Amino acid sequence: MSGDRPQRKHIEGGSEMAREFEGKVALVTGAGSGIGRATAQALAEGGAEVMAADLSTEGGRETVELVEKEGGICHATAVDVTSASQVEQMVNQTIETFGRLDIAVNNAGIGGPSATIADYEEAAWRQVIDVNLIGVWLCMKYELAQMSKAGSGAIVNNSSILGLVGFPQASAYVSAKHGVVGLTKSAALEYSGQGIRINSVNPGFIETPLIESAGITPGSEMHEFLVGKHPAGRLGKPEEVAELILWLASDRASFVTGAAYLIDGGYVAQ
Ligand SMILES: NC(=O)c1ccc[n+]([C@@H]2O[C@H](COP(=O)([O-])OP(=O)(O)OC[C@H]3O[C@@H](n4cnc5c(N)ncnc54)[C@H](O)[C@@H]3O)[C@@H](O)[C@H]2O)c1
Repeated sequence: MSGDRPQRKHIEGGSEMAREFEGKVALVTGAGSGIGRATAQALAEGGAEVMAADLSTEGGRETVELVEKEGGICHATAVDVTSASQVEQMVNQTIETFGRLDIAVNNAGIGGPSATIADYEEAAWRQVIDVNLIGVWLCMKYELAQMSKAGSGAIVNNSSILGLVGFPQASAYVSAKHGVVGLTKSAALEYSGQGIRINSVNPGFIETPLIESAGITPGSEMHEFLVGKHPAGRLGKPEEVAELILWLASDRASFVTGAAYLIDGGYVAQ
């Protein structure tokens, strides 16, 4: 986390495909854990210089260590995505550190409590919307201002299967994630003429601290129930979601914008 431009320590072999993000700068929010961390690691492995942003400074620092251990370039910044000034600072810091912004992965999110609508605490409901929907909008607001100036860019927002279907006792999360899908489509329409592509990923249940903190741990009744909801017969892995995020962020997805991409082991196909 020095002020100097970070230097790549060493590069292990790697095919042309593996280096497709060479020369690109990527910003990942929620990069201190789970899907965000896996995405930051994969982008760095592909040659990108990565800004790992997270509310947790410890999580961000750990991600930097993991990336640097593999010879990648990663810098951490602390951010609360519900704060406009902090989000603006995060984007500014990315430009100051790496000189540009090519890829943004708006991934930070929380699960929120499980409760039926009549029993849901108002403050908790607002908090989920604040982080999971307004946070994504704030990130795009400042990222797009930067990308517009450059006339290029790719944004991937992390929604969920619950951005496309409902789930009992998760009304705030489901509403926020549906909002992210709509926000993504509107943003794509506004910015496709400026060379910027904007898509969402819509993962099924993925084994990360987010679901663990809700008590969904292997062997628990809820874990078994959720495994049964995925025709693939298991929950997903963060690295699998990172694969899709990378493809959407890459030039290989050059004609893809405004789309919501399922990665759910067949959950929504039923
Ligand atoms: N795990 C799943 O089953 C699943 C499924 C579909 C979508 N998602 C989405 O994927 C994204 C990542 O989730 P994950 O499962 O990797 O969870 P995670 O808890 O492992 O990681 C989320 C990260 O976001 C950070 N964060 C939380 N609030 C923040 C804030 N206000 N500002 C900045 N950072 C903040 C946390 O510190 C954490 O490091 C979330 O948007 C989540 O809704 C997760």
